[in-house]
Amino acid sequence: MQKLSIQGGNRLNGEVRISGAKNAALPILCASLLSGDPLQLGNVPELNDIATMRKLLEQMGVVIETNGSQMVLSAAHIGKLEAPYDMVKTMRAAILVLGPLTARFGEAMVSLPGGCAIGSRPVDLHIKGLQAMGAEIHIEHGYIHAKVPGGRLKGARIFFDLVSVTGTENLMMAAALADGLTVLENAAREPEVVDLAQCLIAMGAKIEGAGSDTISITGVKKLHGASHRIMPDRIESGTFLVAAAAAGGNVTLTDARADILENILEKLQEAGAAIKVSGSTISLQMNKRPIAVNVRTAPYPAFPTDMQAQFMAMNTIAEGSAMVVETIFENRFMHVQELRRLGAQIEVEGNTAVIKGCAQLEGATIMATDLRASACLVIAGLAAQGETIVDRIYHLDRGYEHIETKLSSLGAQIRRIK
Ligand code: EPU
Repeated sequence: MQKLSIQGGNRLNGEVRISGAKNAALPILCASLLSGDPLQLGNVPELNDIATMRKLLEQMGVVIETNGSQMVLSAAHIGKLEAPYDMVKTMRAAILVLGPLTARFGEAMVSLPGGCAIGSRPVDLHIKGLQAMGAEIHIEHGYIHAKVPGGRLKGARIFFDLVSVTGTENLMMAAALADGLTVLENAAREPEVVDLAQCLIAMGAKIEGAGSDTISITGVKKLHGASHRIMPDRIESGTFLVAAAAAGGNVTLTDARADILENILEKLQEAGAAIKVSGSTISLQMNKRPIAVNVRTAPYPAFPTDMQAQFMAMNTIAEGSAMVVETIFENRFMHVQELRRLGAQIEVEGNTAVIKGCAQLEGATIMATDLRASACLVIAGLAAQGETIVDRIYHLDRGYEHIETKLSSLGAQIRRIK
């Protein structure tokens, strides 16, 4: 298993290009299933999750060509309407093929995801939404079997009990090819939902309201080919900014978007960082120990759960104490035990962690448990004194493109041990 070795204590200085967003690219790759014409994508990040999604789509019959970050997907001949357990267990986002397959082919068989490291993460809202649109759904032998009598889904009014990002995306894709009007209420407002909507609109879909909590989709008979550039990754952006705030330094992100990072930038300013935004660049300068900041995760535009662990890492070495409340996932504090191994002082009670900043963390061997927890441990390693070894970094490779190369270019002492 690969590990990262980090010699902490170096300030981060320089420029880093932000990659395309994993959580926008994954649903958009699935959107290729909605049409027989080619879908041309730009700024697709090179990540293990993207490779897994590619393999899944290719198994179904999608022909995919790549050239650097360009990808062309052609779903003219789909032979298999199935997402097997092996794929879904590696990457839950595989559930995103359910809506497109059911809408275009009138049936689909997708493995029911199991629990995962950060919570139980059911998909009941995806299933209920498709049922409301006329799909008959049975769970058999661990698989979701969807079948649409008559072959075409019907538009419906769907209210989400909970805000769900992939739930909104799955149903928006399904509704794009359904008969009539679908209204998604209490929909997710995440920028990745908007990016998917923009790609679907370029494919001929009629969608209004993406980015608000009510999305109206008037189904069309057919979607066509299109070209779309994946938005920049706001979580990768936030991760590099927090790394610079924790380790100190002066870092500029290029190809980034500040308008979708407002909450994160405000929190970093509260921590004492100076932030400058100019077009698609964001610069952060931090010349002192950060000040501890409280964080409460909630659906967009509030503070993202995908940045909670990274801010926790910064808080461990900050001046003062802070409270981190996780309201989205019930088990997203797995990094706490590992941070404690570096000397962090953290108490957890239910979904609340109280962090008392300490002057210095000490390097140790620690283990990554999920993607964002891995990023948190890397940040802690950069800020700690001495060597930190982060084990099980396959989690990191799922969602951060060339992270050690990017951090090295900023002056971090970080290397991969194979
Ligand atoms: N939920 C249900 N039923 C459902 C769907 C969701 O109870 O049918 C619950 C979940 O268990 C959770 C809450 O609703 O408590 C929100 O989950 P959501 O469905 O929004 O999460 P997701 O769509 O599975 C996406 C991202 C996650 C990110 C969350 C929250 C993708 C591929 N994944 O997951 O990203 O944490 O939204 O913003 O977009 C990551 O990138 O590291 C990651 C985990």
